[in-house]
Amino acid sequence: MKGFKIADIEIPSRYVLAPLAGFSDYSLRKMASDYGAGLVYTEMESCEAICYHSQATIDDAKATLLDKRTENNTKLALQIFGGKKESVLKSIPIFESLGSYDFLDFNVGCPVPKVMKQQAGSFWLNRQDELISLLKEMVKISSKPVIVKIRIGFDVITDVVHLAKEIEKAGVKALAVHGRTRREGFVGEVHYDVIKEIKHSVDIPVIANGGIDEHNFLEVFSKTDADALMLGQRAIGYPKVFADMIALEDGKKVEETTLLSQLKDLKKHLKLIFSFKDERQASDIMRGISVRYIKGFENSSKYRQQLVHAHSLKQYLDIIEDIEKSI
Ligand SMILES: Cc1cc2nc3c(=O)[nH]c(=O)nc-3n(C[C@H](O)[C@H](O)[C@H](O)COP(=O)(O)O)c2cc1C
Repeated sequence: MKGFKIADIEIPSRYVLAPLAGFSDYSLRKMASDYGAGLVYTEMESCEAICYHSQATIDDAKATLLDKRTENNTKLALQIFGGKKESVLKSIPIFESLGSYDFLDFNVGCPVPKVMKQQAGSFWLNRQDELISLLKEMVKISSKPVIVKIRIGFDVITDVVHLAKEIEKAGVKALAVHGRTRREGFVGEVHYDVIKEIKHSVDIPVIANGGIDEHNFLEVFSKTDADALMLGQRAIGYPKVFADMIALEDGKKVEETTLLSQLKDLKKHLKLIFSFKDERQASDIMRGISVRYIKGFENSSKYRQQLVHAHSLKQYLDIIEDIEKSI
């Protein structure tokens, strides 16, 4: 298994779990880590919210302490977002005092209206000079290496090569590139050629992102020459994707995925999330995730109805037991 390095920190594999709001909490991070992800990201955390002592953001920051208990050597990036320079800078020591992580990632890609309204996320693509000056200060303040995740343009593909070079000059240690513009959202064509251009114009590691799965990952490596690959949607309900890619990369046989193996993973995921979130929160989050573990298998629509109505760990486990008995 090959790894890569960011700022002299060894990352044990070249497969990265993307930041996924509503999904990449400790439980999915641990699932991905156990399956060999070399680097995992938190959900995006609000700089404004932490400055105003939001309990949910404090809890998320503290949950990074759980990642550090894992026996794996997986590295963790805490992703933050914000549109105001003062609160972004003010938030950094607060996050550091609450949590434990290896890299501080800044979100320059989020297209959702709530974030755009704050002139944060992908809105920074319209404020590039301000972004660079902010990054320079973040690098000074953060005791962890700063990394950045960008999209390749706002409405259309823009000169992201220039931006990438400026980001590197600001002292940022790695760049994750989602090969779509803000307008292109989360589905459809990914411009791997643009990621390749960026890769060849900077010296810091480039992590390619967008539309990657266990079938196309080798092709994406060759299309982008990236140092590592970041997976988002494919890992939701299928964290085993990391193990599949590592096996394929090493020329080993991929372990068969069956409904039974997926249910085993779902049980593990449930137990993890119910171990650190309250029952209501955990049930709400797992509603969307649990059905993705069984998607595509026979009778999954019948069980889907039951899973989306579960309100406790016990209810989830009872449904899973029923499915297991029916196999
Ligand atoms: C539900 C969902 C939540 C996401 N949350 C974040 C986030 O918090 N921060 C971020 O930088 N990107 C976020 N993204 C974007 C992903 O990190 C990733 O860039 C995008 O989904 C493309 O990769 P994929 O095709 O492998 O999913 C999110 C995407 C989805 C679908």
